[in-house]
Amino acid sequence: MIKAYAAFEPGEKLQPFEYDPGPMGAEDVEIAVEHCGICHSDLSMLNNEWGITQYPFVPGHEIVGVVVDRGELVHQFKLGQRVGLGWHSGYCMTCTTCMSGDHNLCTHAELTIVGRHGGFADRVRANATSVVALPDTIDIHSAGPLFCGGITVFNPLLQFDIQPTARVAVIGIGGLGHIALQFLNAWGCHVTAFTSSESKRLEALEMGAHDTLDSRQPAELETAAGQFDLILSTVNVNLDWNAYIATLRPKGRLHFVGATLEPLDIGVFPLILRQCSVSGSPVGSPASIKKMLDFAAQHDIKPVIETYRFDQVNEALARLASGDARYRVVLSH
Ligand SMILES: NC(=O)c1ccc[n+]([C@@H]2O[C@H](COP(=O)([O-])OP(=O)(O)OC[C@H]3O[C@@H](n4cnc5c(N)ncnc54)[C@H](OP(=O)(O)O)[C@@H]3O)[C@@H](O)[C@H]2O)c1
Ligand SMILES: [Zn+2]
Ligand SMILES: [Zn+2]
Repeated sequence: MIKAYAAFEPGEKLQPFEYDPGPMGAEDVEIAVEHCGICHSDLSMLNNEWGITQYPFVPGHEIVGVVVDRGELVHQFKLGQRVGLGWHSGYCMTCTTCMSGDHNLCTHAELTIVGRHGGFADRVRANATSVVALPDTIDIHSAGPLFCGGITVFNPLLQFDIQPTARVAVIGIGGLGHIALQFLNAWGCHVTAFTSSESKRLEALEMGAHDTLDSRQPAELETAAGQFDLILSTVNVNLDWNAYIATLRPKGRLHFVGATLEPLDIGVFPLILRQCSVSGSPVGSPASIKKMLDFAAQHDIKPVIETYRFDQVNEALARLASGDARYRVVLSH
């Protein structure tokens, strides 16, 4: 039996929960969970904000642990090897999208916390294709958040071929945003942090931003008119998107990774006249995760974490919900 923490109703506290994972699949690995980050998506799923949550619900998709069992067709991982697992737990591996290397866009991909149980547990299983080995030099205590938060902000740099000469802004300096500042700085970009928290401004500069602006002050947005090649939105709220589009350079892009629930109210003419784009993307492929881990190890990029024990999971979720976490809450065994 796998020992986990589950919610039985939307928004309810998590309770100890055991489940039988069944026979080992031939292509599966079983991971003994050591650390698991808490992403805002875990909180949104717990509250069924996206309408896809199945209960009992075991959150957790920023997992670092050790391979303790593997199916007979799995040869790429050794028992005892340290690995990570993120938002996806398997891909169809046959569709054109998978065959093109875009596994994270596969419409048949399995989600670690939908229709299966996640990493708030002592063990978790996944198809080996979705599991990525950790580089030896990476800090294992803080590596979990790279597997969702990290890859989500790293992938756009690959997808849009962002140059070191680019001027990039990040909206929202939380779990995703604070890793984005570090990646973008190491990538060579000029980095602006948009935050609604006065108290994060200095820390944003220390994490790699070159300047900071208030994400909710129209006057501050006006000072940035026509500046950015890329804006990464990591917030889950509605902001004045037309004011942000006015801060794009010609051919600039406003890119959403934060799951804002309200529809966007965006004027088309500024997009047409300056050939700007509005887009979104989910996490990244296993190959991109591997690239990100190597980049993080090479540049000594680490999520800034607050650690809780697994039996403090409800306290840890409340800490994330408070908005005061600096910057990612991680559960550790
Ligand atoms: N696309 C994907 O594949 C993917 C992957 C992971 C997560 N997500 C989504 O990305 C979003 C961020 O996740 P996260 O884990 O980084 O969350 P988080 O740690 O809670 O950070 C979100 C940040 O948004 C800003 N914010 C929150 N409320 C705001 C408000 N009312 N006005 C202005 N700014 C506000 C805050 O930054 P400041 O204090 O700096 O203002 C906050 O730290 C969530 O919607 C999550 O579901 C998407
Ligand atoms: Zn596929
Ligand atoms: Zn996530």
